[in-house]
This record gives sequence, C-alpha cells and structure tokens, in this order.
Amino acid sequence: MLKSVGIVGLGIYAPEKVMTNADWEKLVDTSDEWIRTRTGIQERRYAVEGQGTSDLAVEAAKNALKDAGMVPEDVEFIILATCTPDYRAQNASSLVQAKLGAVNAAAFDLSAACSGFIYALAVGKSMIQSGMYKNILVIAAESVSRLLNMKDRNTAILFGDGAAAAVLKEVEDGYGIISSFLGTEGVTDDILRINVGGTLHPVTHEAIDNGDVYLKMNGQEVFKFAVKALPKATKSALEAGNLTVEDLDLVIPHQANMRIIESAAKRLKLPMEMFYVNLQKYGNTSAASVGLALGEAVQEGKVKKGDMLALTGFGAGLTYGSLVLKWSK
Ligand code: ACO
Repeated sequence: MLKSVGIVGLGIYAPEKVMTNADWEKLVDTSDEWIRTRTGIQERRYAVEGQGTSDLAVEAAKNALKDAGMVPEDVEFIILATCTPDYRAQNASSLVQAKLGAVNAAAFDLSAACSGFIYALAVGKSMIQSGMYKNILVIAAESVSRLLNMKDRNTAILFGDGAAAAVLKEVEDGYGIISSFLGTEGVTDDILRINVGGTLHPVTHEAIDNGDVYLKMNGQEVFKFAVKALPKATKSALEAGNLTVEDLDLVIPHQANMRIIESAAKRLKLPMEMFYVNLQKYGNTSAASVGLALGEAVQEGKVKKGDMLALTGFGAGLTYGSLVLKWSK
C-alpha cells in the first residue's frame, strides 16, 4: 500500500505593487472595459524593484512552514516551479534554500510554465511515496512582469506576479493527493515563449530593438488549446482515481482567462459556482496561479476537511495537468 501524501501547510504571497487596468490604459491603446470583458482581469501585482522570484517564493514558503508548524531546518527537499528564475543559469530554488535558511534541504527548479504547481505536487508526492524523503516544500513563484513588453497590449496586460507554497507530508489514509494526470503537447513554433535569450538565439542588439527578448503569445492558439486541455486534464485525473465530476466539491483552475474557465465549466457540465476564481485580482501568475487560488479559497473558508478538489492547469510548452486532492487539514 502506498502512503497517502497531502498538503499539511499552505502559504501564499503577492507583491504589494498593484497594476490596474486604468494603469494599462496610460501605457497602451486598451481599455478597462476590453480587458474585463475579454479576460475578467481587473488588476495584477508586480514585484517591486529589488524583488526577484526567489524573494516571492521565500515569503510564500515562510507562510506555508508556519501553517505546517515547521521551521526551515526541517525541510528535506525544495521543488520550485517557475519559468521566471532570478538568473539564467543558477536555479532559483538554491537561492530560496539560502534565503530561507533551509540548510538541510536539496533543491531544484521545475519548468512547466503555468502547469508548474501541479507538476511539482505530483513529483513531490512520488518522492515521499518512494521513501526517499519525509517532507517536500513545493513552491510555485513567478515574476512574469519582468519579461513583459510594456508596449505589447496583446500579451502584457494578462500577466502578474505571485507565489504559493505547500508542505507535502504523509497524511491520514485516504486523504491527500488521490490521483493525477500530467500531459504535454509539445510545439516547436512560437505560440508562447521568449524567442531570444536562450541557447538557440542568444541576445543581440537587434533582438532587443525588435522586442524579441520579451514574452510573446499567440492568444487565440493558446485559447483553443486551453478550452480543451482544462476539461481533458480534469477528467483524466478523476478517471485515474476512479472518480467522476460528481465527486468534486471545488475546482481550482489555472487563472488565465474567465472565458476559458466558463468554457471548461460547460464542457465538464459543472456550475460556475464550483470553480474558484481570483484572476480579477492577480491576472495570470503562471505557475503560481493555481496555488494562489487554492490558498485564497482556504483562507476564505471555501475548503473544509474531506472536500474533494481538482487543481487543473495549462500553459506554455504546451503543458497541462490536473490533480485530485482530498483536503486533509
Ligand atoms: N486592448 C484592446 N484591444 C486589444 C488588446 C487589448 N489589451 N489586445 C488585443 N486587442 C485587439 C487585437 O489587436 C484585435 O484587434 P483587431 O481585430 O483590430 O486585429 C482584437 O482586440 C481581437 O483580438 P483577439 O486576439 O481576437 O482577442 P481575443 O478575444 O482572442 O482575446 C486574449 C485575446 C484575451 C489574449 C485571448 O485570446 C486569450 O485569453 N487567450 C489565452 C491566453 C492565455 O490563457 N494565456 C496564458 C497561457 S498560460 C501560460 O503558460 C503563460
């Protein structure tokens, strides 16, 4: 019998700087009305000067450890899901380990874009079930704002910064992560990526002038993928646990666009009230989004012990995934 593994501590952090739709109206040809009706987003948070992704991660981690009744020295392993590390060739999880003082923990970054929190929880669960570790600190943190072209209204208005952390440990039998599904539909063309600054196309002056060093997205292609990926991942994770949508109490979807969530609700034949949404406050925070939503749902008392949750995400890659979780706290 495999151990039951679940979340014993949860923490979130959003940086203080607020960027509203009205602020965007001053920068590009857009309107609050366009952004709200096409996406649902009203404002987002941006990391302040001197704050890197590891700093956001550390704040969320401190909150999660407090919630779990642990100190940094207790942590055995850190998985940091991010696609916006502080530096190009140093893992941001090592910075987190140092800044947090988690001196006994090994650490690595996991790159699966907006599906990162779900991928990291699934990997962390397996590492505990294998007997390798007793606890894993899973963090998802992003500073997407640093990669945005502030002249590109198509992509830049969607994203924000934030972090979420979860301490995974063995929990009561039958609780915790029940099942999961992880998927990838790899694409080689530039649906959603930064084209320049990796090893294939190093930075040039021309690339900077063209704006190729910033995040660029083909919104319609991502939209088409997302409306299928969200329900497919949720159903596949449920099936892996011999469950159906009727067993669910709450869905925590990736917070990219209200229209994508509404479409997923229709396809899954579930009422919108079963979907937790906080994208109006944070925009799309990539890997952090599902954790940030779960954290707020718990804080607002929307999750109680024994509730069956589906966490579902999709993102660049293209990656997608879902995790069914019986809340154990
Ligand atoms: N303000 C005003 N007008 C705009 C803006 C803006 N911010 N952005 C685009 N437009 C214009 C376009 O230029 C276009 O004008 P045109 O008709 O004159 O050419 C018009 O609005 C319609 O553009 P569409 O792209 O067709 O708009 P759409 O309804 O598809 O909405 C959006 C665009 C919101 C980006 C949508 O496609 C979407 O949400 N896609 C999914 C994005 C997503 O979820 N990304 C996250 C992926 S997760 C990750 O891993 C990062």
